[in-house]
Amino acid sequence: MTNHQTDYFVIKAKENGVQVIGLTRGQDTRFHHAEKLDRGEVMIAEFTEHTSAVKIRGKATIWTKFGSIEAGDNN
Ligand code: TRP
Repeated sequence: MTNHQTDYFVIKAKENGVQVIGLTRGQDTRFHHAEKLDRGEVMIAEFTEHTSAVKIRGKATIWTKFGSIEAGDNN
């Protein structure tokens, strides 16, 4: 089985009110957690047994093992 606990990612908010939404693992995919970050705040999180996907709403920089990506920019 995959060890989700090693799949960390980092999110840094570039504006106030950035939402980090956790989606459930398994049969149905639904929101189970919404975290709000203000500008400059950083969240370090991992994928877990309960969380298989994350949706970011707002301007933020995200780092994963694949590299970094900007969310909320129109480019
Ligand atoms: N209790 C959740 C879990 O263990 C917390 C969590 C982990 C989470 N990673 C997340 C919430 C990423 C939002 C985004 O799965």
